[in-house]
Amino acid sequence: MVRSYCFCLLLLSTIVAVTVAIAAEELPPAPTTFKTLNGKLDLAPLNRNAPLVIAKGGFSGIFPDSSEYAFAFASSLHTSLWCDVQLTKDGVGICLRDLLMQNCTDITEIYPEGMKAYLINGAQKTGWLPVDYNMASLRNVTCIMVPKNYIWPVTSDNYIQLHIQIVQEAHNAGLEIYASDFSNDGIFPYNYSYDPLGEYLSFVSDGGFSVDGVLTDFPLTASEAIDCFSNLNTSRKTDHGNPLIISHNGGSGDYPGCTDLAYENAVRDGADVIDCSIQMTKDGIPICMSSIDLLATTDVQQSKFCSLLSVIPEIQSKKGIFTFNLTWDDINILRPKISSPLSDYVMLRNPRYTNHGKFLKLSEFLTYAKDKELSGIMITIENAAFMAASLGFDVVDLVTTALSHAGYNNPTTTNEVMIQSRHSAVLVKLKQQKTQYKLVYTLPLNIDDASDSSVAEINKFADAVIVDRKSVFVESSGFIVRKTNLVKELQSAGRLAVYAQVFRNEFVSSPWDFFSDETVEINNYVLLVHIDGIITDFPKTVRRYKMNSCTGLGDGKPRSMKAVEIGGLVQTLQDKVRRPARAPALVLKPSDVVEPPLPAAAAAAVPKTTGYSSPRSDCSSSCCCCNCN
Ligand SMILES: *[C@@H]1O[C@H](CO)[C@@H](O)[C@H](O)[C@H]1NC(C)=O
Ligand SMILES: *[C@@H]1O[C@H](CO)[C@@H](O)[C@H](O)[C@H]1NC(C)=O
Ligand SMILES: *[C@@H]1O[C@H](CO)[C@@H](O)[C@H](O)[C@H]1NC(C)=O
Ligand SMILES: *[C@@H]1O[C@H](CO)[C@@H](O)[C@H](O)[C@H]1NC(C)=O
Ligand SMILES: *[C@@H]1O[C@H](CO)[C@@H](O)[C@H](O)[C@H]1NC(C)=O
Repeated sequence: MVRSYCFCLLLLSTIVAVTVAIAAEELPPAPTTFKTLNGKLDLAPLNRNAPLVIAKGGFSGIFPDSSEYAFAFASSLHTSLWCDVQLTKDGVGICLRDLLMQNCTDITEIYPEGMKAYLINGAQKTGWLPVDYNMASLRNVTCIMVPKNYIWPVTSDNYIQLHIQIVQEAHNAGLEIYASDFSNDGIFPYNYSYDPLGEYLSFVSDGGFSVDGVLTDFPLTASEAIDCFSNLNTSRKTDHGNPLIISHNGGSGDYPGCTDLAYENAVRDGADVIDCSIQMTKDGIPICMSSIDLLATTDVQQSKFCSLLSVIPEIQSKKGIFTFNLTWDDINILRPKISSPLSDYVMLRNPRYTNHGKFLKLSEFLTYAKDKELSGIMITIENAAFMAASLGFDVVDLVTTALSHAGYNNPTTTNEVMIQSRHSAVLVKLKQQKTQYKLVYTLPLNIDDASDSSVAEINKFADAVIVDRKSVFVESSGFIVRKTNLVKELQSAGRLAVYAQVFRNEFVSSPWDFFSDETVEINNYVLLVHIDGIITDFPKTVRRYKMNSCTGLGDGKPRSMKAVEIGGLVQTLQDKVRRPARAPALVLKPSDVVEPPLPAAAAAAVPKTTGYSSPRSDCSSSCCCCNCN
């Protein structure tokens, strides 16, 4: 990937002896038995049957290949460092300890006639060279390393198929088998949702077998998978403890946001809270959709509604086709579009499901969420002032009415309801109505400190606050430059719960300090700032993090699960390389928080309906009320 390439150039020859900081550790207790050959034959004590992590060129995914720092870092992760990749006749890379296969395999027995003379680097050598054999013909040869796609074959559109039985066959024949080609910044089959940890798990535990070792550019993630995430029982119930897992437009990392598929995915993947961003249709129905602009969420541009393009400066400066310009029935004709926030890096999401799923009315969302095993729901209200003044919709009122209609007005029997807004006026209005719902205020972007008086102001109307990730760990050019005190201030002075957003699996979305591994990022928000909740496109990653088997180990945790040294990477850049510029600190002031009250809803320009009993235009006249309760 371009980014890692640039990064290597940047760090090349600038890494100094930071190695002192990396103390050797004893092996962590292996929590599980692995179905490796040693595990199967019961050849080794329990903590020795785990697959081996072979670091390719040290930690070459992040540090320059074979640099001192790379090796030192990798060796602190209990990896096996030594491997040379040789090419077979058909171009498959295999890991061998010697160019001559007779030195490290039983090839002399399998192909006794295969010996040849070769001129290697000017020297005459005799033996067996991989370049003379196809991968298939080496399948019977022992200490073999196969590319990972050999075990889980990948389709031409980059989805994995059912694994082939090669690992079990090798083990039955008493042979070890290693898999190669792992990295955190490579191309992932879409099944792994850009999550490298999930990929390792399918090779060491979740597939019902375990390879005997993996060859990787990112040994930290492989060690993490083996030490703390193998054989987890993901159907275990959760107590909805911290950090709370809050979906971002449902499980929008895998399916188009705010569709039935995205919500089902979030629930299946263990979200504690599912979310709905309210938008209004022309016929007055509150719906869940991540954007008020249908261009961002649907194929409206290719539809007959494409002529409805307009600029509405109160909402955005660019042209859009807005939800309130189409009726609910019109919107239902459109096909949802999967979000790809990192498409600049050509990281697209789940193409087979790009246009799948169905959007939900708020009332449908509320019904759906009611019997699910969640701790709550979060409803987001934006643009309330515009909708009142220009469209005649009192969104706050529509939301509270829909909630009580769906039976959410009894907090003892239903999931907790959170109402979120960037606009304090929305929350102040609800507070004045003595709402029983939890009010969540979203801070502006680029804030990294808050004055006491602004926290006091927030305290008047909010129970919880959402901060941008970059307000917690300030970044510059992809490196963390420091940790702010914002979360601590809000938690202690304000006694507010603090949630951070938006967490994503794609490695380019997080700073280098977290080793291109989303689990490392989550772990640091938990260990270093005690974040109360994580808002994510990929609930599964957070849920799995919460279940890891190393949590209780305290200081005995493997290195991969300890906090990183914040700002440590930037310090390794020497003067030769320009240090990333430090962004100036922005302090939240009361004037950033206080807003004028919401305007009263103007006389409705369109007939107002409550949403849950609106007539359907496709109803026959005799049955125009078929949607009424
Ligand atoms: C590898 O095999 C060759 C030929 O059999 C032998 O000369 C050489 O010493 C061996 N190398 C090692 C490292 O065993
Ligand atoms: C590998 O071994 C199996 C079973 O011993 C045999 O049937 C097969 O022909 C062998 N394959 C090769 C390429 O030698
Ligand atoms: C990978 O995902 C595709 C598309 O969702 C699915 O058809 C396939 O079965 C998945 N592969 C595995 C091994 O689960
Ligand atoms: C996994 O957890 C579920 C729910 O707690 C439990 O019923 C099941 O027995 C567990 N499975 C294993 C293998 O422990
Ligand atoms: C969309 O709706 C707004 C508000 O009702 C209206 O001012 C605007 O003209 C509409 N745009 C189109 C293209 O119909």
